[in-house]
Amino acid sequence: MKILSIVGARPNFMKIKPLYEEFKKRKISQVLVHTGQHYDENMSKVFFEDLELPKPDIFLGVGSGTHGVQTGLMMSKIEEVLSKEKPDLTIVVGDVNSTLAGAISSIKMQIPVAHVEAGYRSFDMKMPEEINRILVDRISQFLFAPTEDAINNLMSEGINRKRIFFVGNIMIETLLLNIQKAKKSKILETLSLDPSNYGLMTIHRAENTADPKKLFKLFISLSEMGIKIIVPLHPRTKKILEENTYLEKIGKNIEIIEPLGYIDFLRLMSNSKFILTDSGGIQEEALMLDIPCITLRNNTERVVTLKDGANTLVGMDPLKLSLAIKRIQKIKRSYPKPPLWDDKVAERIVNVISDHPELFFL
Ligand code: UD1
Repeated sequence: MKILSIVGARPNFMKIKPLYEEFKKRKISQVLVHTGQHYDENMSKVFFEDLELPKPDIFLGVGSGTHGVQTGLMMSKIEEVLSKEKPDLTIVVGDVNSTLAGAISSIKMQIPVAHVEAGYRSFDMKMPEEINRILVDRISQFLFAPTEDAINNLMSEGINRKRIFFVGNIMIETLLLNIQKAKKSKILETLSLDPSNYGLMTIHRAENTADPKKLFKLFISLSEMGIKIIVPLHPRTKKILEENTYLEKIGKNIEIIEPLGYIDFLRLMSNSKFILTDSGGIQEEALMLDIPCITLRNNTERVVTLKDGANTLVGMDPLKLSLAIKRIQKIKRSYPKPPLWDDKVAERIVNVISDHPELFFL
């Protein structure tokens, strides 16, 4: 059997790592393709180093662009790779444009697709990721669900139950495997931070950066709260704040830094007082680390994180945000963990692939 895995954007890298190791362990032939959706050193290369992933076998160098340009370019390049490599199965992870491009190109060439992290739904079609998730799930032969609610979403869309497998959360497997290594990171010392004495924020989603004034207002109200907040800033958000001359006006208490690698970010998360984010995966990581999370969105596809108050949705409303920050600082910090969020996810996935040759047929 020959597997071809496609990655491209930052959150893909930690999702492919455990699978890469599992295929290697079982001596299954594999090819790792990087589309180049993320190309900055601190958005891509540092993750390969931190995760000890080998250099991709094939790098497509697609880069940034509108959704159509980026996805289209990826599809034409992936098609060439698939014709040459002729894998038996294509693996795609998550919900980014590289995931969609990989799945469409593969199925059109009648190569079956396995989607890892299938079934998450925010029910918000304004999110490009929601469109990607729905389309990829619809055309995949193996659907690997991280949670029980994801299975229900897939079934309510009429997807054949025989193709859906509850395997757990692959990103959490990587987190568990790296938590000890993260303790050795010197990022707290570098930034002169005391544990539990700062908040950590990430913000990059298209819907939150579309209105620069709203984004700036959020930063200003945060800076007035009197709590130190560290913000490793995504290049998209940085560019938007810079273009509108807002970056230099962001007030005290907010420390903007460059995006961090996986290990440094994990240490920063584990020691923070709370996390503010519009990312998907960080909501899950916060829950696993018992750090209260406030999500800067009105919905989440990670509904399991809302249970037991581990995660609170506030959108971009500064008032709701400051109330939530005050509230979560008082609550206890130990949350029940969802089933199968453990270090056996890749093993389960590869067992399913090996045990179900009948699902390779479209
Ligand atoms: C993508 C994913 C998003 C994910 C995020 C993680 C899609 C639709 N979105 O969003 O789901 O949460 O990755 O980071 O796939 N840029 C750089 N350097 C880079 C990459 C991007 O400067 O290495 C800048 C470019 O100006 C680019 C912009 O960021 O236009 C957006 O990049 P893009 O890959 O289109 O989407 P992300 O916002 O990163």
